[in-house]
Parts: sequence; C-alpha cells; structure tokens
Amino acid sequence: MNREHNEIDWLRLHEIIDQHCLEERWSLIPLIQEIQKENGYIPPRAIPVIAARLKVFPSVVQGVISFYAQLYTEPRGRNTIRVCRGTACHVRGGKTILKLVKQHLGIDEGETTEDLEYTLETVACIGVCALAPSMVINEQVYGRMNPKKVGQLLKRKEEDHDPA
Ligand code: FES
Repeated sequence: MNREHNEIDWLRLHEIIDQHCLEERWSLIPLIQEIQKENGYIPPRAIPVIAARLKVFPSVVQGVISFYAQLYTEPRGRNTIRVCRGTACHVRGGKTILKLVKQHLGIDEGETTEDLEYTLETVACIGVCALAPSMVINEQVYGRMNPKKVGQLLKRKEEDHDPA
C-alpha cells in the first residue's frame, strides 16, 4: 500500500540536499537520515530528486535505504510496538501475545495503522528473557505479558491519545 503523503515540503527538502550536496557518496547517508528526520520517513518521490542532485542512479539511493533497517520509505506510526519472537518468549506464549497485538491493532507485523498511531514489528530478542514474554512500546519494556495485560496496555495507550 502506498501511503506517501502528498504534502512534501519540497523547499525544505532542497535545503537539506543543498546542505549535504557535496557530490560525494559519503554524504548520502546523513542526507537521507535528515530527510527522514524531517518527514518521519523518506518519501519515495524524493529519491529521484536526491539522486539527480548527487549525480547517482536512483537505485543507489534506494539501495542505501534498503540496506539500513532504520530507514523507511513508508510513513511510520507515532508509536512503535515491538513484540519479541525470541526463544524464551516463544516458549512462554510470545506467539499468542503477537497474535493479540495484531488483532487489536488490525495490522500485521511490519505494518502501520491507518491513523498512523502504531507500527508493529517483531524482534529477535529484547534482552529481558527472564521477563518473557515481553514487548516494547517505544522505549518502554513490558515483561511477563499475558492476554489481559496486552488488552490493558493497548487500551491505556489509546486513552492517552484520546482527545476527549
Ligand atoms: S527472547 Fe524475548 S526477551 Fe529474549
């Protein structure tokens, strides 16, 4: 699904390119990182523009973006939920936790909710195996998850964002 925002600030984008346009490839990564910081992701329509300015093929820019897991060409949710799929979590019900989070958000792993509130990812190990099964919402780790806690946690998050 292509959910690229229409409202790219092209003026700002060209300013960023100007700051990094040294016509040397080593400037490409900081340039891309800054565009992502500005937009929350790298708009695909920006890729040929960046490539033209740096005098490289768009595939070079796309290749760098694809190489780094932290670079995104789709809008991300304001919150990132990472459910652990490591062995310790798996044997303690991590699969069920992931299934419940997917059901609650109505998205699959790697996807973002339509309202751009959540992006769901899985990770190989969060590093708190003693607290399995575990998940992370943004920077906050939640351990010893169970179906009830998943429901409570996501409900609380929604209430935090409810403007009412
Ligand atoms: S396996 Fe899940 S935290 Fe290590």
